Amino acid sequence: MSRTIEVLPDKAALVARAEDLICDRITQTLSQQDYCTLALAGGSTPKPLYGALARRDLPWTKLHIFWGDERYVPPTHPDSNENMARTAWLNHVPIPPANIHPMPTQGGDPQTDADGHEGQLREFFQTSPGTLPKFDIILLGMGDDGHTASLFPHTAALGVGDRLITVGNKDGQPRLTFTVPLLNQAKLILFLVAGASKQTALNAVFAPTGDPQQYPSRLIQPQGEALWLLDEAAATGVINR
Ligand code: 6PG
Repeated sequence: MSRTIEVLPDKAALVARAEDLICDRITQTLSQQDYCTLALAGGSTPKPLYGALARRDLPWTKLHIFWGDERYVPPTHPDSNENMARTAWLNHVPIPPANIHPMPTQGGDPQTDADGHEGQLREFFQTSPGTLPKFDIILLGMGDDGHTASLFPHTAALGVGDRLITVGNKDGQPRLTFTVPLLNQAKLILFLVAGASKQTALNAVFAPTGDPQQYPSRLIQPQGEALWLLDEAAATGVINR
């Protein structure tokens, strides 16, 4: 695993850099295969990025969109990551509806829906049991507590090693999330981390040693590349950058 850290002057520059990196990686991927798989992050940081991508002319029929995690709410709910990405981006571009693969959240039981999405991923990637899908690009954010996706500190989701999708838990609220093994199969993981409130967790995540149960982003060490895009506000005071 190679980890690269880039520090941008501010959040706008971080978003612009992420936009260019993603578009370049999509082009590079499509020079080698027929489609590109991109898993989106939720939260607030990526929203302007999605707006910027809505203004790009991308090979929409060859781009497949997934989510790395999802709150267990309907896709019309204001907290829905799917709702945020569709509103900011996907509703404004000619991407075929079949190329959008949201996490199911309306079956009434999070584990059942997690298992259902796992089946959808295996069908799409045509993976045999025991092998894990390799996403071309996975976007991730990091919470002030060092969580990523919906892998929260000291939760059972951190230890799930035999599934692609599991049920995360944030303060008793269920979420669906990629598991650590699935995330770590990615060819490229792009972390987007902005704001001074992330400094403490970044120091703990980048430190040579630490507790991954306390800072779950330490668990994300993909076989491919891990590129951390930080703004100066987040990176200030971070020692091991
Ligand atoms: C979510 C995200 C979550 C997010 C972090 C950072 O569903 O909320 O997937 O992991 O990336 O909480 O969120 P911000 O970008 O808002 O700081």
